[in-house]
Amino acid sequence: MPMFTEEEIKQVEEIRSHYPTNLAAVMGVLHMYQDKYGIVDEEGITYVAKLIDVPEENVLGVATFYEMYHQHKTGKYKLQVCTNVSCMLCNSDMVLRTIKEKIGIGIGEMTDDGMFSVHEVECLGSCGTAPVVSVNKQYQENLTPEKITTLIDTLKTQG
Ligand code: FES
Repeated sequence: MPMFTEEEIKQVEEIRSHYPTNLAAVMGVLHMYQDKYGIVDEEGITYVAKLIDVPEENVLGVATFYEMYHQHKTGKYKLQVCTNVSCMLCNSDMVLRTIKEKIGIGIGEMTDDGMFSVHEVECLGSCGTAPVVSVNKQYQENLTPEKITTLIDTLKTQG
């Protein structure tokens, strides 16, 4: 059963204090949960709902509406590929195709060894350096098929 530490509960209180309602704090607490457990599954939704006293269906609604919350396990390296307009105009499709070919999985999938998962996301807020892929929250910018190939090879070597 999931459980936040005392320190994390304090963080939750801090998040709640910034909003007029508990419902508005759901996203922040879901982020905390996902950062800790790597996933926002059924258990997580129930836990967060109870923790901040918000109906479960509302937490579920938020968790399933936004692509940034994952209902399935993600890889050790979570590749979030932006395919929004600026990135699309700068050939994000080629970057995505290279990723798929290089690691052999499609969007929303994870490699059998749990090393990589691939996710398509909306604008990462770094359009000036498009195309962008976030790897475990670290932005890889101005990507080309060659650059992403090198990056994947490096991550494979690091294990
Ligand atoms: S469109 Fe990709 S970062 Fe904005």
